[in-house]
Amino acid sequence: MKKIIISICIVALMAIAYSCNKSINPPSGTVYLDLPSKAYTYFNKESLSFDNTLNEKATLGRVLFYDGHLSVNNTIACATCHKQNNGFADNVAFSTGFEGRLTKRNSKSILNLIGFDSFFEKNSIYSVGQSLFWDGRENILANLVDRPITNHVEMGIDDANTIPSKLVSLPFYNSLFKNAYYGDSTITSARISECIAIFMASIQSKSSKYDQYLQGNIMVLNASETNGMNLFNGKYNCGSCHHLQTNFYTMSDFKDIGLDESYTDLGLGNITQSTVDNGKFRVPSLHNVALTAPYMHDGRFKTLDEVLEHYSHNILNSPNLDTALKSGSQPISMNISTEDKAALIAFLNTLTDFTTIVDPKFSNPFKVK
Ligand code: HEC
Ligand code: HEC
Repeated sequence: MKKIIISICIVALMAIAYSCNKSINPPSGTVYLDLPSKAYTYFNKESLSFDNTLNEKATLGRVLFYDGHLSVNNTIACATCHKQNNGFADNVAFSTGFEGRLTKRNSKSILNLIGFDSFFEKNSIYSVGQSLFWDGRENILANLVDRPITNHVEMGIDDANTIPSKLVSLPFYNSLFKNAYYGDSTITSARISECIAIFMASIQSKSSKYDQYLQGNIMVLNASETNGMNLFNGKYNCGSCHHLQTNFYTMSDFKDIGLDESYTDLGLGNITQSTVDNGKFRVPSLHNVALTAPYMHDGRFKTLDEVLEHYSHNILNSPNLDTALKSGSQPISMNISTEDKAALIAFLNTLTDFTTIVDPKFSNPFKVK
């Protein structure tokens, strides 16, 4: 009897382990990497004087991004919470990480993290040109070993320096590191960071309908979408915070939009330790917003309609409510009509870039034979 119970337990554990592994990191032995033999053309500017192995680094970064071995029990990869078909955000309010722990905030898209040209002109992956995370606590993309792997507690890695020794035992990394570092296959946490940063930097999305409009093709928006854009920038003044004209679609401003009368998450205030910053969160880029539900730093709204309902009737008098959302000392109600809502949503849908989310360059390279 005991034996039967034990074997049932073992089978169950194996099934759990397999199902955890399956999505991101298939079991070893059957795994192969779907990478082209030639370097990818991620980068417009090919032979960059300071590094002509950017494509090889991005290719390695892509493998690392999808590899569960970066987490302590080999099951959680960056891509677990930054899903390509959700515009590299997650489709739940709080993502599930290591041992079922939930993230404290809603996952963020990692598209267009850098101003592409300035990134290379500055000759460095150190300055992103905008702050990262909902509270802006980071602006150095290459600090990823410290931040996303270890600070994303959900990945369960306390010491990033333990990762290289795990990766050494995997057959495919030797040649990937060699290609990316001029024949030197040494695996270090700094290199891991650098390559993931370069991979993320390569995920540039610039082919939404609205991007085409910005590039001068003004006929691309239909009447309702154009109306929505005008309402966004005019009547409802959404554009005073969401600066969609820049290639980040955001300016790293932090605002309190009256979600709560008393704060459960202090946001920027946690970082600056200043009460005037409590409840302020980074104005999110609305790129691919139709794909990144649920919304807000805590994923409280399931649909764009619910977001508009907030601005329409539910702005609360929070202590640091932004003046743009106030009239005197009271919160405004935008009273957005049904027709205007439909137009605003039609416009927000033009921010979706359907090519990046299916682009094989950014997809999971792990395939099972
Ligand atoms: C368990 C889920 C989870 C995993 C795994 C995860 N992330 Fe995140 N990521 C999040 C959440 C949640 C946020 C927002 C947190 C915040 O702002 O406080 C975030 C934010 C980010 C940001 C900031 C984006 C921006 O626009 O501000 C970057 C960059 C990022 N993650 C990269 C990574 C990388 C690289 C990995 C793998 C090493 C990774 N993430 C793994 C959940 C996850
Ligand atoms: C005062 C500045 C401000 C104004 C005005 C403003 N927003 Fe926002 N918006 C923000 C901030 C800040 C957030 C994130 C708040 C949070 O999560 O705490 C946000 C979040 C959103 C989100 C959710 C995005 C995501 O990824 O979760 C959408 C959609 C949105 N706003 C659309 C609009 C529209 C449409 C209007 C006009 C009707 C508007 N905003 C007006 C600052 C503003």
